[in-house]
Amino acid sequence: MPLKPLIDAGTIARRVAELGRAITDDYLGEDLVLIAVLKGSYVFAADLARHIDLDLSIDFLGVRSYADDQQSSGIVQITADLTQSIEGKHVIVVEDIVDTGLTVSYLYENLETRRPASIKLASLLHKPARTQVPVRIDYLGFTIDDVFVVGYGLDYRQRFRNLPYLAAIADGTA
Ligand code: IMP
Repeated sequence: MPLKPLIDAGTIARRVAELGRAITDDYLGEDLVLIAVLKGSYVFAADLARHIDLDLSIDFLGVRSYADDQQSSGIVQITADLTQSIEGKHVIVVEDIVDTGLTVSYLYENLETRRPASIKLASLLHKPARTQVPVRIDYLGFTIDDVFVVGYGLDYRQRFRNLPYLAAIADGTA
């Protein structure tokens, strides 16, 4: 399948370090939980966490959004839940990409019922051209055009998550 390099590993690393520094400054002295949304954010979350110089905890939320290969439906199933309460804690949800915004808006609704002190969003990527539900991204890596991207944790049919950089796939043919 033809892949077109989009954002190289060095550029990603520099931006993730900047985001980590911003989060460090914003949450000094707070009780912070990073919630990595699996599977796509596992690489970003691992790198981001190592650039946050705070005493934090990390938890994982497995989600499956019912979709065909490249189209989100907005129906989200939680496949693995958090292991700890977030009540009274400051939460940063760590996402790979905000595409339609449907997944994040569902997750916010769900997490808010657990009464955290606050919820913010860190997303590596944003594809504004495809917005269906506007979502505020507090810590954003990169804004991209309406292309399907893989690598650095993001997949196409479970492939390419291990690419160390971000690439666009030309079309939906595997
Ligand atoms: P949503 O459309 O904002 O709900 O995005 C749902 C999920 O679809 C994201 O968290 C990604 O896992 C996946 N997704 C959306 N766009 C892409 C893409 O370009 N490449 C890989 N996964 C994507």
